[in-house]
Amino acid sequence: DALVALSKAMPKTELHLHIEGTFEPEQMFAIAQRNQVDLKYHSVDALKAAYQFTNLQDFLDLYYQGMSVLLHEVDFYDLTMAYLHKMHSENVVHVEIFFDPQGHLSRGVAFAEQVNGIHRALQDAKQQWGMTFKLIMSFLRHLSEESAFETLELAKPFLPLIDGVGLDSSEVGHPPEKFLRVFAACKQLGLKVTAHAGEEGPPEYVWQAIEQIGVDRIDHGNRALEDDKLIEEIKKRNLTLTVCPLSNLKLCVVTDMTEHPIKKMLSLGLQATVNSDDPAYFGGYMNDNYASLIRQTNINKEELLKLAKNGITGSWMDEETKTHHL
Ligand code: ADE
Ligand code: ZN
Repeated sequence: DALVALSKAMPKTELHLHIEGTFEPEQMFAIAQRNQVDLKYHSVDALKAAYQFTNLQDFLDLYYQGMSVLLHEVDFYDLTMAYLHKMHSENVVHVEIFFDPQGHLSRGVAFAEQVNGIHRALQDAKQQWGMTFKLIMSFLRHLSEESAFETLELAKPFLPLIDGVGLDSSEVGHPPEKFLRVFAACKQLGLKVTAHAGEEGPPEYVWQAIEQIGVDRIDHGNRALEDDKLIEEIKKRNLTLTVCPLSNLKLCVVTDMTEHPIKKMLSLGLQATVNSDDPAYFGGYMNDNYASLIRQTNINKEELLKLAKNGITGSWMDEETKTHHL
């Protein structure tokens, strides 16, 4: 219908996207073969059949397996370029993408191979299409703070290519406060800071991300809605929430898209945005996320435009670039 057409045509941003979560099964098998790495699943169909998750951990187990075929700079380039091509075709004009260095370092893949491949694709997309970007390195929260510090050390020669740091992987049992000191060190280096919080974890974790880490935005934030004081705090600090509708559905954060809280977030005055998280695993990219919201929640045109606008104001672009995209 008309709103879906509008959502496809309007310029959009992506602020919550794990590049390893854009690994389509076909490309995964092609790169596995090229690198002579064995995958546990023996066909694209067998792999796709396994994409049934009841929680975050179910998904993460497959996600780490999938990324295990990435070995060389060119693999990271090809993965990133395939994603950016799709985004250009969907009228996405700015992307802020996460990568998980520890998920590759643990397999002996050097930091340079990862970051150079991803960054070269981002630069090519900027040159070809004027697509702007930020690159965010995420710490895996199921690992220790010491491991995060080691990763930060390895990242230091590449800091000119890295705009911010994030916190992802298994949330429950790994609260933001576990990473207090490493995030303080990142801030000292001038990096922007975000963290996944309130996806499965309780409102307390969102409080910690805000008050102890001092995040510049919140990834997901769904469970913040359980705490009225927290909602007020997020508004007071003008923090953007990077919400991921299809991800929430696939990981059972919501039971049905008709129950997705994004409309409620907007009505509460929260700066919600629409993002795809791990689109190859969750059944849709940017435009699919919008279409699903439009068809299953009754968001109106005003809300739709507000979500897109929040994606620009909540991004880490400089003010001049924001004005250019608005
Ligand atoms: N890593 C990749 N996607 C993630 C998500 N949605 N939550 C936590 N960690 C992730
Ligand atoms: Zn995520």
